[in-house]
Amino acid sequence: MEKVIIFDTTLRDGEQSPGASLTSDEKIKIAEQLERLGVDVIEAGFPIASEDDAKAVSLIAERVKKPVVCALARCKDEDIEVALRSLEKATKPRLHIFLATSEIHRKYKLKKAKEEIIKIAVEKSAFAKKYIDDIEFSPEDATRTEPDFLLEVLKAVIEEGVKTVNIPDTVGYATPPEYGALIKFLRENLPPDIIISVHCHNDLGLAVANSLVAVINGARQVECTINGIGERAGSASLEEIAMNLLVRKDFYKLTTNIETKELYRTSRMVSTLTGIPVQPNKAIIGENAFRHESGIHQDGILKERSTYEIMNPEMIGVPASELVLGKHSGRHALKARLETLGFQLNEEQLEKIFDKFKQLADRKKEITDIDIIFLAEEEQFKTHKPVYTLEYFHVISGSSTIPSATVRVRKGEEVLEDASRGDGPVDAIYKALDRITGLAPKLKEYKITAITSGQDAQGEVNVSLEMEGLKIPGKGVSTDIIEASAKAYLDAVNRYLMRKDIVKPKYKGA
Ligand code: KIV
Ligand code: ZN
Repeated sequence: MEKVIIFDTTLRDGEQSPGASLTSDEKIKIAEQLERLGVDVIEAGFPIASEDDAKAVSLIAERVKKPVVCALARCKDEDIEVALRSLEKATKPRLHIFLATSEIHRKYKLKKAKEEIIKIAVEKSAFAKKYIDDIEFSPEDATRTEPDFLLEVLKAVIEEGVKTVNIPDTVGYATPPEYGALIKFLRENLPPDIIISVHCHNDLGLAVANSLVAVINGARQVECTINGIGERAGSASLEEIAMNLLVRKDFYKLTTNIETKELYRTSRMVSTLTGIPVQPNKAIIGENAFRHESGIHQDGILKERSTYEIMNPEMIGVPASELVLGKHSGRHALKARLETLGFQLNEEQLEKIFDKFKQLADRKKEITDIDIIFLAEEEQFKTHKPVYTLEYFHVISGSSTIPSATVRVRKGEEVLEDASRGDGPVDAIYKALDRITGLAPKLKEYKITAITSGQDAQGEVNVSLEMEGLKIPGKGVSTDIIEASAKAYLDAVNRYLMRKDIVKPKYKGA
């Protein structure tokens, strides 16, 4: 069976999601997990965008050896030079250059005629080819470009040694029949050894459908992201592409290198590190994806799973939610369970998780796999020492009282305490934290979700704070939602403090 190349752009297009900005350490963790997942290409970043992006690409190039490591650049010498420098240590480097080709972009953004576009594309492909063999070219806004002109541009860059041509539906405008026809037209008119790649955005909810129809028509590389994150409404979701090709192998007759058992873990990691939650009804990895609510469905499932299930949770690595451990379980039991769940932890990490496990067991009778995963993720995905950690809080709230909160946090050796009133207990805590940190972020979003079931369920709070124009996500987990709220707020503050010095955006427009 022919193979479809899975090109993951979580760390580039995905990181362009509003509110998501990852540090270099976080990007390395994700890149290493993408390697375990079996992606063929990792687009590690857009090095000209910021020094931090360039550094992350270079570290990933050094660390990750199996997949091709790719860096994005505009058709400009400086972009190409910076991208190539970031790729110096890569075993399998790829340069991805892009230039808009549609009439709208030519007229309003670039203010260039068709001939100038071809000239730039050819010149920059030739320039890059002197230094690197594997070049991918993207005519940005390809789906709104005149097909004949699109073909002319692609033939011209192929002449200069470009090996992969990517056809972005940059604004998510194409319908599946149109996109399929465009890919068919290009496949019939381009040399057979040239890989046609697709890159679809989800503005009309068609990114996955468009990518799959493209594959049917001859595309052999799909650009996608974990959890479908990306610019605006996001991109084609990797897990959906991979599982469509697997579950309907009978129809597509194609394979990928994806280790589907790593999908759930990868999705959790990306959600935790970007702070972007996964919607419950998200196909494949949403928490409802394998839940059966209707009595008729439950009856069917009990009689024969295939009545209502086309795939099972084990295929994507969802741990069975067994009741496994309790208050009296020891280190060894926890360690064994963590290993079964796929966590490789050192002694120090294990010790920290064990402490948290004991604290949780005091509050919660039965600890499930999901609880353990959350504890382990908190520790394993940690790439930095937080500036502030929550030590203690006390809130007073009631129908006839003005809510107030006292909070104590640790900052290195210092212990800081303050109190405040607020419109509610969470607001009071947040105001007290503002007094301690001296920061006054705007709370833009606040969301509570129960991540385990029962009265003693663990709650996850996701917040988004705005500070100096940066939107920073934060997450907190606890059986107590006020505590989870405080942790989420501090998490965002810590991320802000860590990022403010290292993220220096430079790139503006194409
Ligand atoms: O959506 C787009 O057009 C892009 C290109 C840079 C490939 O992300
Ligand atoms: Zn894109």
